[in-house]
Amino acid sequence: MDIKQVMVVGAGQMGSGIAQVCAMNGYEVILHDIQEDYVQKGIDGIKKQLSRQVKKERISEADMERILRQIHSSTDLSNASAVDLVIEAAVENMDVKKSIFKQLDATAPEHAILATNTSSLPITEIAAATNRPGKVIGMHFMNPVPVMKLVEIIRGLATDQEVFDAIYQMSENLGKTAVEVQDFPGFVSNRILMPMINEAIYTVYEGVASPEDVDEVMKLGMNHPMGPLQLADFIGLDTCLYIMETLHDGFGDTKYRPCPLLRKYVKAGWNGKKSGRGFYEYS
Ligand code: CAA
Repeated sequence: MDIKQVMVVGAGQMGSGIAQVCAMNGYEVILHDIQEDYVQKGIDGIKKQLSRQVKKERISEADMERILRQIHSSTDLSNASAVDLVIEAAVENMDVKKSIFKQLDATAPEHAILATNTSSLPITEIAAATNRPGKVIGMHFMNPVPVMKLVEIIRGLATDQEVFDAIYQMSENLGKTAVEVQDFPGFVSNRILMPMINEAIYTVYEGVASPEDVDEVMKLGMNHPMGPLQLADFIGLDTCLYIMETLHDGFGDTKYRPCPLLRKYVKAGWNGKKSGRGFYEYS
């Protein structure tokens, strides 16, 4: 399977990061979102990232121009008609994802692989919304995509071996390290990360320590680059809650119950860095 043309669905933080990394590594990319201004915002973010790389003399102005020329904007999913791979990075909502995958199944070429960057939703269920479950796979990048080296590759129940191999190869071509994961809630990354974040929130909720001190313990004591509460703000508290609920529902185990303080913050609209307030305030 020769992958040359890629469509990225969703031009938010993850989608634009994925589009940037694909274009930097020689792939032609269509960056799709439901509105032109969303796509433009994503492309502006990529330009900003690339300009920083130019300033640091890691890439030339000419490289930057070439990379940007390889990214084409789209607000119509029928633009997937000539791509070899779609990487979906839209909102974490099963109904939205199923609807996108149904449309892609109808428009993308028969040989095209349909990958999802979902952080915890079942690949098998998304695949079942299509007539090509063998060609549906999870390709979970970490944030910030240009910096983080990992891609979790999640096999759905029906994923073909050659599809897995192609995505594994593609991940390596993008300069990432791929890890094979089976399709269970939270995969590996969020099954381990989110309960740690949730426990950090319980620690604050129960008055054991302040957010600053919880983060200090994990940064200085465990050598984590960010404390769990700073990381939760960075990921988005709404996303953290959604993933905890997916773990709780998926395993039916009370050890995954989301902390009431996390629910309270999300109800208040304190969703972390993107909303200006979470465990910390952002200007
Ligand atoms: N996009 C692109 N590059 C970025 C960036 C961004 N948003 N933020 C930082 N960088 C780059 C900087 O340009 C810098 O690059 P160079 O060293 O090449 O100059 C490098 O990252 C380091 O940045 P800083 O010096 O500004 O800051 P830092 O040393 O604190 O690193 C960090 C920033 C890489 C984000 C680091 O704090 C970190 O690793 N944090 C943890 C990130 C993490 O755990 N991510 C996983 C989240 S979970 C997830 O994504 C899965 C999920 O499903 C929820």
